[in-house]
Amino acid sequence: MTIRKVGVVGCGLMGSGIAQVAAMSGYETIVSDVSEEILQRGFRRIEESLSKFVEKGTISAEQKQETLARLKRTLRVEDYADCDIVVEAIIENIQAKKELFARLDQVCKSEAILASNTSSISIVEMATVLTSQRRRQFLGLHFFNPVPLMKLVEVIPSLFTDEEVVARAMEFARRLGKTPVRAKDRVGFIANRLLVPYLLDAVRALEEGVGSIEDIDAAMKLGCNHPMGPFTLLDFVGLDTTYYIALIMYEEYKDPRFAPPPLLKQMVLAGWHGRKTGRGFYDYSDPKNPTPMALR
Ligand code: NAI
Repeated sequence: MTIRKVGVVGCGLMGSGIAQVAAMSGYETIVSDVSEEILQRGFRRIEESLSKFVEKGTISAEQKQETLARLKRTLRVEDYADCDIVVEAIIENIQAKKELFARLDQVCKSEAILASNTSSISIVEMATVLTSQRRRQFLGLHFFNPVPLMKLVEVIPSLFTDEEVVARAMEFARRLGKTPVRAKDRVGFIANRLLVPYLLDAVRALEEGVGSIEDIDAAMKLGCNHPMGPFTLLDFVGLDTTYYIALIMYEEYKDPRFAPPPLLKQMVLAGWHGRKTGRGFYDYSDPKNPTPMALR
């Protein structure tokens, strides 16, 4: 079965990006959220992103309009009935995801693939709410933020997933212009498994006084050729998100590499979540000129 129509559930940061790249790649795409207001916000984000692509000359103004014409929105799960693949990108909450997948299983046609964009929830656990046939057509498709720019998609089969479904999901990712990599259903998959301990180590190094925020960032940029230092990256990803993922990984592996250091927890408690709250390891009062925070 070829994929013609794509469904995306959730029109937040990730869902709007996934819907955008699906529509840009020529798929009829339908996206939902819990309110019309959130959907409108998501569509504004998509329009702005498409406009930037037009300004840069990546796509034409006509292609922007064609992309928007392929995008539909809805508030009803029933409207996914004729989708060939549905990618879930709702909040990172196991109960909410299980409820959604049980509903999608009833509504979607029998051949449809269901996928989750989860960062940290086990794929097999979500699969348990599905019928035995659908479990074979369910897997993780983990995109990266911002979706229209980031090339990677991790493809994560569970113990139940058919090999043929993995191959189709890989092909789908390629059609979206992405590079798929295959990862085992282990918390953190590949990228977060390696990235999270590195980010936590940077916070530990800061706590131990090995270097300042700016110097640690400069060391990794200039010494290791990273596009940004760990504190700039932490502020970009969100300290709350990183903390939450680290806790889940620590709970799973009981390995101190994943234990969030006290400073990170304190900053999350203080509401300093990074760029999105105006403060993290840097102060973004002047967004063009972030200054390192004085941390106790
Ligand atoms: P977000 O908070 O921006 O968006 C989630 C959206 O889902 C919200 O608009 C919310 O109203 C909606 N929603 C909640 N329940 C729903 C339901 N039952 N039906 C329809 N919509 C519903 O979150 P974000 O960042 O887009 O994350 C979504 C998923 O993607 C999470 O599982 C997250 O772990 C994962 N992810 C996030 C990344 C990131 O960098 N933010 C990167 C890769 C994966």
